Amino acid sequence: MLTLSENVKVLRQKATLNAVEHLDQGLYHYFKDTFHLDPSLSRSIVSFQANKTREIYRWYKFKEAFSASLVEYLLEKYKIVNGVILDPFADSGTALFAAIAKGINADGIELLPIGQQIINTKKILALEFTKDDFSTLKRWSLEQPWKKSELQIPLNELRITKDAYPEQTKEAIERYLGACEQENERVRTVLRFALLCILESVSYIRKDGQYLRWDYRSGRRQGKKPFNKGTILGFEKAICDKIDEIIFDLQTRGKQKPLFTSKHSKGTINLYGGSCLEVLPTIPTGTYDAIITSPPYCNRYDYTRSSRWFCCTGKNGS
Ligand SMILES: C[S@@+](CC[C@H](N)C(=O)[O-])C[C@H]1O[C@@H](n2cnc3c(N)ncnc32)[C@H](O)[C@@H]1O
Repeated sequence: MLTLSENVKVLRQKATLNAVEHLDQGLYHYFKDTFHLDPSLSRSIVSFQANKTREIYRWYKFKEAFSASLVEYLLEKYKIVNGVILDPFADSGTALFAAIAKGINADGIELLPIGQQIINTKKILALEFTKDDFSTLKRWSLEQPWKKSELQIPLNELRITKDAYPEQTKEAIERYLGACEQENERVRTVLRFALLCILESVSYIRKDGQYLRWDYRSGRRQGKKPFNKGTILGFEKAICDKIDEIIFDLQTRGKQKPLFTSKHSKGTINLYGGSCLEVLPTIPTGTYDAIITSPPYCNRYDYTRSSRWFCCTGKNGS
């Protein structure tokens, strides 16, 4: 039985969802005549899973994004070969990096710090990382300097993630963060990114859509069927494996091809951190040759089935 205030909340939620549905229908009808089916867009091209065989894209666990192949397909299909594109919901920057690899400049806008961090790390690795930085990364995997670090930087915890890590792991993470402070900004960014990539695997938590599921070993109250997430990795193994994976990909890049940019690539990335609602009005009309994006979507996780992406081309909006 719901209380009065809970009932009001439910009614408000329903009204908001109905309003969103109404707007969605309006948008659909407005663009209806421009939609067309493209049978060559298979699930394997569109889904972010297609990125998982590519360097860097497989470093972090992430699926709320589209694939680099889709962006490449769109650039080719609409003959976008130079100029500048925009992704106003840039997230992990798939559109931006696929574009600069083809020599096209790319602007991105991203609200959340996590997306900004992923993009900045990719940018550093693609364009700024030096040989010395690379050697430092190797040393970290071999010598594990955090073990001797006297500086511990306390892990910021929210109420919903409190006690997410075994005590020993939490201490190792805090020492790792402390040791990172000894390195230059480029290396520090990559090391912190490596940490970000392994946090779930060393925790009691598994992200399940927009929910967090807690393993029975966390001590948190369990439902009828206790949740067992399987192996919870030790910090050392997880972080060294991740750093080694990054090193392996960077080495492959050195021997074979650049990580993102091709030999003749001149593309650059410009990231605006913040809301596109505030940034877009400051950008002059006609700045972009194309917009390739996928907007935020509510409670939808299967990208291929339920999400939408857009590609608009032409400075005059054609
Ligand atoms: C579906 S994701 C885009 C995925 C991206 N195309 C990719 O492949 O990596 C939507 C992104 O929009 C961001 N976002 C939501 N509201 C925003 C706003 N007002 N301004 C900028 N970014 C926003 C979210 O943080 C999220 O990263």
